Amino acid sequence: MDKPIAILTGASTGIGRSLALKLSSKYFIYLISRNKQNLNKTKELIDMQNNDCQIIVSDISKTNTLDKIYSQIDNKDRIELLVNNAGIGVFKSISDTTIEDWDNTLNTNLRGSFLMTKMIIDNLKSKKNGKIVFISSVAGLQPYKNSTAYVASKYAIRGFAASLREELREFNVKVTTVFPGAVNTPIWDNKNMEELREGMMKTDDLTETIFHAINAPNNCVTEEITIRRTLGDF
Ligand SMILES: NC(=O)c1ccc[n+]([C@@H]2O[C@H](COP(=O)([O-])OP(=O)(O)OC[C@H]3O[C@@H](n4cnc5c(N)ncnc54)[C@H](OP(=O)(O)O)[C@@H]3O)[C@@H](O)[C@H]2O)c1
Repeated sequence: MDKPIAILTGASTGIGRSLALKLSSKYFIYLISRNKQNLNKTKELIDMQNNDCQIIVSDISKTNTLDKIYSQIDNKDRIELLVNNAGIGVFKSISDTTIEDWDNTLNTNLRGSFLMTKMIIDNLKSKKNGKIVFISSVAGLQPYKNSTAYVASKYAIRGFAASLREELREFNVKVTTVFPGAVNTPIWDNKNMEELREGMMKTDDLTETIFHAINAPNNCVTEEITIRRTLGDF
């Protein structure tokens, strides 16, 4: 049987790569990010599991890439899931945060999620069937110092997703927001976090829970999930 289609942003590394491997058991996945080499590595791992996917090299923060992404998706009637996972982290004091840092963070984390959602929303609504997952952060629930742009983007995602959830209930489109604590991924590269990384959650720690939420019975939606390491935040 032909698999339903999932679209996953930020699939080239970290949480996205782990999610891609898990989701590919159930979905044909379109893997989206900017780095072709890393996307191909994710694809290779999916191929090794005898599952199927296609890469789309794209920057989700740019309006004009949306048409390019959508036009590369075949069998659009089978689109069922969008995971808005792509994100960047700028962890600096407000004095050191440049306008470019601010714009890049908000444009990737928030605007990119909005654009990807716009891209598929009429498709899902018309079918009265669909799921959209947002990967926010515990930084979308509580503030952290030296993280204004990141925290602002993740709080905003929470609000965007919550509002979207209310709007889409009558269309049977479910919206789930995930708030992970620190996970050992490339997002922490070059951020002076080396001694803490071993104690962070692993990407696979999250994916099982997210997969379970996506597979909730048709009449229920897992609205929000917070996943922290048992020991709590650092
Ligand atoms: N790791 C954590 O501690 C943690 C905790 C809570 C939430 N999160 C969230 O989890 C998500 C995944 O992060 P991660 O930890 O897995 O970090 P990561 O390994 O750095 O992954 C980020 C992903 O986003 C993609 N990306 C960044 N900018 C993009 C753009 N403009 N267009 C398309 N793709 C873009 C990157 O791919 P390319 O570079 O190839 O474009 C990469 O695949 C993020 O939203 C992050 O905020 C992470």
